[in-house]
Parts: sequence; C-alpha cells; structure tokens
Amino acid sequence: MTETILQLFRNCSRSVFALFIAILLFNQSATAAPDGKALFTSNCAACHNPLKDATGPALKDIDKTFPSKEWGYKWVNNSQALVTAGDKDAVAIFNKFNKIPMTAFPSLSHEDIDAILKYVDEFKDPNAKKPGTETPVEAKSNSSIYTWITLGLIVIAIGMWRLSSTLRKSANDKSGIPNYKDIPLGRNKVVIAMVVILGFIFVGYWITNGAINEGRQQNYQPVQPIFYSHKVHAGINQINCQYCHAGAEKSKQAMIPSVNVCMNCHKQINEYSGAADHPLVTTEGKTVNGTEEIKKLYAAAGWDPTAKAYIKDEKGNIKTQKVEWVKIHNLPDHVYFNHSQHVKVGKVQCQQCHGEITEMDEVYQFAPLSMGWCVNCHRQTGVQFDNGYYNNVYKKYHEEMKSGARTKVTVDDIGGTECQKCHY
Ligand code: HEC
Ligand code: HEC
Ligand code: HEC
Ligand code: HEC
Ligand code: HEC
Ligand code: HEC
Repeated sequence: MTETILQLFRNCSRSVFALFIAILLFNQSATAAPDGKALFTSNCAACHNPLKDATGPALKDIDKTFPSKEWGYKWVNNSQALVTAGDKDAVAIFNKFNKIPMTAFPSLSHEDIDAILKYVDEFKDPNAKKPGTETPVEAKSNSSIYTWITLGLIVIAIGMWRLSSTLRKSANDKSGIPNYKDIPLGRNKVVIAMVVILGFIFVGYWITNGAINEGRQQNYQPVQPIFYSHKVHAGINQINCQYCHAGAEKSKQAMIPSVNVCMNCHKQINEYSGAADHPLVTTEGKTVNGTEEIKKLYAAAGWDPTAKAYIKDEKGNIKTQKVEWVKIHNLPDHVYFNHSQHVKVGKVQCQQCHGEITEMDEVYQFAPLSMGWCVNCHRQTGVQFDNGYYNNVYKKYHEEMKSGARTKVTVDDIGGTECQKCHY
C-alpha cells in the first residue's frame, strides 16, 4: 500500500519537474522574436499596418484575396512589373490606391513572404501598445505569470520530494529495511546542485534581460519644449526631411536643426491656421494652440513678431537661445552608427528605421534599436551592389551575380555583421 502511494508520489514529482522544464523552455521561446515580424517591421511597416489601411491596404488576411499564391509572391517581389504587364487584378489595386507604387522587394524569398503573411494574418490588436507606454505591458505581466508558476512548481516539487522520502522512510521502517542516514535538505548534493543551476539560470536571465533593456526604450516619446509637429511640417506641408536634418546624407549624425533654420520660415509664418483641418492634440488628449507654440519659438529666437525684428541688447547683440529638444534615439556609446552610410550609400529610407514620421505630431522611437534589429536587417537587406562603391571589390560576388547564381549581396555578405563594424 505505502509502496504504491510512494510510487505515485515519485511519478508525480517527476512530472511536475518535467512540466517545470517545459515551462522554462516555453518561456524562452515565447520571448524569441518570430522572423515574420522582423521582416514585416523592417520592410513593410512603413506603409502597411496589419489592421488599418495606411499608405497601402491593411494586410491581415490579404492573402485570402490573392488570385493565386504565386500572384502574391510576384506582387511583393515587384508589383510594378505586374501592373505594367497589364495584370488586371494588379492594375485594379494600383488604381484603387491612387497609383502609389509599392516598393519592389526582389530579394524576399517565398519563405520570407509566407512568414510575413503568416505574421499579419495572426496579428491581434495590442490595444495596450499605444505610443508613449514605454514597455509593452502585456509582455511584462506574461513573464511574471511564468515566474510565479515556475516558483509554485518548484515549491510543489520540493514538497513532493520530501513527502516521498518521508513515506519511503516509514515504509522501510515497517518492512525492517535499514534507512540511509537522513541527509538534511540543505546538505543534499542533488538539491544543492539543482539550486545552484536554477539560480544561475534565473539570475543570468534576469540580469541579461535587464541589461539589454536598460537604455533601450522603444516607443519612447518625451514631451518636447515646443509642440513641434512633424505631421504639420513634413506631412501636410511636405517639407523635405533633409531641409532640417541636413546631416543625414552627409555625416554620421542626422542633426537637429537650429532655431535659425526654423526662423527661415517663421519670420513670415506667425500663426497656425491649420487647426480646423488638423487640430493639434497631445497623446494625453490635450488640445494645443499652434500659434502659442510658435510664440515659444519666437521667445527662444529673440524675435519680436510685432516689430518683425530680432530683439537686441544694449551692445546690439541678438540673444538667441537654444531650444532644448529632448533626444529620443539613444544608442549606447560603444555602438557606431552612421546615417550617411545608410541613407546615401545604402539608400535606406528614413521610414524604415523611424516609422511613418510624416504621420506623427510627436515623434516617438519606432524601432527597438537593439543589436538584433541592426543585425537582422543586415542579414536581409541587399547593398546597392552596382552603385560604384563595390566595382573593384568582391570579384566572386560580381561573377555570381552575372551568372545568376546569386540574386543579391546582403550587408552581411560584405561583413556587416562583424562585431568591429558596429562596436568601437
Ligand atoms: C512604400 C510603401 C510600401 C511598402 C514599403 C510596402 N507596400 Fe505593399 N502596398 C503599398 C501600396 C501603396 C499598395 C496599394 C497598391 C498600389 O498602389 O501599388 C500596396 C499593396 C500591397 C499588397 C496588395 C494588396 C491587395 O489588395 O492584394 C500586398 C499583398 C502588399 N502590399 C504587401 C506588402 C508587403 C508584404 C510588404 C513588405 C515586404 C509591402 N507591401 C511593403 C505600399 C507599400
Ligand atoms: C522643419 C524641420 C523638420 C523637418 C522638415 C523634419 N524634422 Fe525631424 N525633427 C525636427 C526637430 C526640431 C526635431 C526635434 C524635436 C522632436 O523630436 O520632435 C526633430 C526630431 C526628429 C527625430 C527624432 C530625433 C531624436 O531625438 O532622436 C527623427 C527620427 C526625425 N526628426 C526624423 C525626421 C524625418 C524622417 C523627417 C522627414 C519625413 C523629418 N524629421 C523632417 C525638425 C524637422
Ligand atoms: C538604418 C536605420 C536608419 C535610417 C535609414 C535613418 N536613421 Fe535616423 N537614426 C537611426 C539611429 C540608430 C539613430 C540613433 C543614433 C544615435 O543615437 O547615435 C538615429 C537618430 C536620428 C536622429 C537624432 C539625431 C541624430 O543625428 O542622432 C535624427 C534627427 C534622425 N535619425 C533623422 C533621420 C532622417 C531624417 C533619416 C532619413 C533621411 C534617417 N534618420 C534615416 C537610424 C536610422
Ligand atoms: C520650410 C518652412 C518651415 C520651417 C523651416 C519650419 N516651419 Fe514651422 N511651420 C511651417 C508651416 C507651413 C506651418 C503651418 C502653418 C499653418 O498651417 O498656418 C508651420 C507651423 C508651425 C507650428 C504650429 C504647428 C505645430 O507644429 O505645432 C509650430 C509650433 C512650428 N511651425 C514650429 C517650428 C519650429 C520649432 C521649427 C524649427 C525646428 C519650424 N517650425 C520650422 C513652416 C516651417
Ligand atoms: C533597415 C535596414 C538596416 C538597419 C535597421 C540597420 N542597417 Fe546598417 N546597413 C544597412 C545597409 C543597407 C548597409 C549597406 C550600406 C552600404 O552599401 O555600404 C548598412 C551598413 C552598415 C555598416 C557598414 C558595414 C560595412 O561592412 O561597411 C554599419 C557599421 C552599420 N550598417 C551599422 C548599423 C547599426 C549599428 C545599426 C543599428 C543601430 C544598423 N546598421 C541598422 C541597413 C540597415
Ligand atoms: C550591425 C551592428 C552590430 C553588430 C555587427 C554587432 N553589434 Fe553588438 N550591439 C549593437 C547594438 C546597436 C547594441 C546596443 C543594443 C542595446 O542597447 O540594446 C549592441 C550591444 C552589444 C553588447 C552589449 C549588450 C548590451 O545589452 O548592452 C555586446 C556585449 C555586444 N553588442 C557584442 C557584440 C559582438 C560580440 C558582436 C559580434 C559577434 C556584435 N556585438 C556585433 C550592434 C551590433
């Protein structure tokens, strides 16, 4: 009788332990980013939302409307080729979206496209993921649930193990088998080893997670000293990004414009007349008076809008102050990132890394800026191999491209995932 109970308990504690390991593994795989998501974010998110029409249509379940699977691949690889060939479905979609051509993605394989479509089809509306919330809340509460379940299971496993050894002792007593000397829990080698290993796993996991997330702040959206809207400037009024961020093509830094750049236009424009068409509202829902915000610019510039002149002190100096914009994107000091390399040489669009800025009143950090994010894109993105920079190097790749054995040369192929390229 006691033997069977004993057996039962042994089995039980074993399966509890197995469950616990399974949860550990599941927890790990739950945090690993699926490929489809990364591909979608780096290639499609600038123009597509899974759920809402943006520049292009909402993509959730779009594959169910394709004339054929092949057609879908062709579309994503090069939609304009289909349109020019007169494919009637393609032409209809193109016309419906005001003839905005979609970027061609000749480098995406069928598996890549399947992964993207799977990701958008399974996409669920994460209401909590509003810009401004600094950490995705659901992910956090999820992982703490796992932690509690795990801790609970450990307690149960230890309890069962103790119970089973007590039972064994009494069973042995009954049948007259001499007991091993009872080793206290704290000195049992197996227990000590288990505790040390688990301790390592958990402490390691928490520390690396904490270190990785520290200073990384996707969706970060600080309040700026002047409510300056990118939507009003770069969107509605179509001002080129590089008018203000002139460094993006020429140097490492894109640079934030000085007050003088603002005043090129705002000596004339002293009020915001667009409130009827595009009212300005903060993420908290407060209405903003654009004209008052322009006055803040004047205060910083030292400009008198009634006299239409700069205010001068006794010595005749203009006292222009800097506007203390809060920096949103911050890479750690040990990382080297260069805008002109990406914008000029690599022809990467601002939107791929910064999101649809022309739709943002207040800018927020769109990309995670994690190492995985940089490296993923380098693995997937082709360099502009025939733009002259690579004429006299990588002979092998040139030959392979010519013979058709290779369709693209990725950043990875030219060494873009080597540690020292990104780390000082
Ligand atoms: C530069 C903006 C842009 C990017 C980037 C972009 N698309 Fe599009 N996409 C569009 C537009 C605009 C349309 C509507 C058709 C048109 O005007 O050509 C469209 C249409 C589509 C359609 C056809 C919809 C239908 O009705 O069948 C699919 C599928 C699609 N996109 C998938 C993707 C995928 C997958 C990616 C990323 C690999 C992507 N798009 C990236 C702009 C874009
Ligand atoms: C009229 C000037 C102007 C234009 C045009 C403009 N910006 Fe900006 N941009 C600013 C100012 C000022 C800031 C700092 C305040 C802020 O973050 O909103 C800024 C901030 C940014 C930031 C955040 C920088 C940080 O702190 O990390 C990004 C990214 C950005 N701009 C991208 C763009 C892109 C992309 C475009 C074109 C679609 C664009 N900007 C057009 C003036 C401009
Ligand atoms: C390949 C990705 C990528 C592309 C493309 C890109 N940026 Fe950036 N941008 C970044 C990263 C990463 C940072 C943070 C840099 C840092 O902290 O040193 C950044 C920072 C900025 C900043 C903050 C000031 C600065 O120079 O650090 C501005 C403004 C900005 N980008 C504007 C732009 C504009 C405008 C474009 C398009 C012309 C653009 N970016 C294209 C990745 C990109
Ligand atoms: C190339 C011209 C141009 C430049 C440069 C420019 N603006 Fe503007 N700004 C405009 C226009 C156009 C409007 C919209 C006026 C309207 O709709 O009546 C505007 C509106 C505004 C508004 C009211 C709407 C809002 O966004 O809150 C503010 C504040 C403002 N600008 C601040 C700035 C600042 C700060 C800079 C420099 C970083 C700057 N502007 C640079 C053209 C410019
Ligand atoms: C949207 C895609 C994309 C993202 C995201 C991206 N890169 Fe790149 N990167 C490129 C492309 C394309 C090139 C190739 C430019 C060229 O032809 O030299 C490149 C080139 C580079 C190079 C030069 C590599 C070499 O071998 O010469 C460095 C360094 C680099 N990137 C750093 C970064 C860092 C750091 C980040 C993240 C903060 C990042 N990149 C994010 C697309 C990207
Ligand atoms: C394409 C650019 C790129 C390449 C290549 C790259 N890294 Fe990184 N690395 C980054 C960025 C960006 C960060 C900052 C991540 C963050 O703040 O979360 C980083 C962070 C790190 C960190 C600090 C970890 C942390 O959480 O702060 C270490 C360590 C590191 N990288 C090691 C390496 C090693 C080793 C290699 C070569 C196998 C490598 N990196 C290659 C871009 C790169």
